[in-house]
Amino acid sequence: MGKNWVLQKKRDHYYRMAKRENYRSRASYKLKQLNDRAHIIRRGDSVIDLGSSPGGWSQVAAELTGDGIVVAVDIDPMIPIKGVKFIQGDMLQEETMERIEEVVEGKVDVVISDMAPNISGHYSYDQARSVELAEMALRAAGRLLRPGGNFVVKVFQGDLFQTYLKTVRKQFRSVKVHSPKASRAASSEVYVVCMGFLGGGKDNQSI
Ligand SMILES: C[S@@+](CC[C@H](N)C(=O)[O-])C[C@H]1O[C@@H](n2cnc3c(N)ncnc32)[C@H](O)[C@@H]1O
Repeated sequence: MGKNWVLQKKRDHYYRMAKRENYRSRASYKLKQLNDRAHIIRRGDSVIDLGSSPGGWSQVAAELTGDGIVVAVDIDPMIPIKGVKFIQGDMLQEETMERIEEVVEGKVDVVISDMAPNISGHYSYDQARSVELAEMALRAAGRLLRPGGNFVVKVFQGDLFQTYLKTVRKQFRSVKVHSPKASRAASSEVYVVCMGFLGGGKDNQSI
């Protein structure tokens, strides 16, 4: 990482705010802003946070659910957070899904995914990897959500995005695409906010 990158990071408004307010990442504000708009997570909800490290979204999810349950999953380690159960595993592996199912015992209210690939710099490759992770998150949501549950997923915009959106729209009552203020202006990421899971009928398992 170059000197400029470090300088830019220190100047960043949300980075400084996260330091001040003891959040582990500036990403915390993206989930806060999405939730202020759409009321995705409510008090008492059970939440699965995919791609959770270093833990900014998990901290916010734990605040929003209060005495609800938060299960965080990442391929990388995560320093423990009070009230959050962490599973280290690759969401592209079936074994990780099975471990989540063992922990939650039943259906959950909300699945959130901020998973992102390591950036190679080749845009179409990075976008394809981002859509692959978003597809896995949707598959996990299909297995874990109760009917009526909510799902939020990060995706990089590009060629494959519209096809992904089409698939998601079949499975939720309402689907909206948001770009929270806390996302960097130059970023191609958007968040697909899906409310009201329609249930796991045959027609809804299209990925
Ligand atoms: C942008 S970061 C998430 C930041 C986090 N939401 C926060 O608020 O601190 C993306 C995360 O996705 C994780 N990730 C990428 N591929 C994954 C995979 N196949 N399975 C699980 N996690 C993955 C990365 O390890 C990384 O921690």
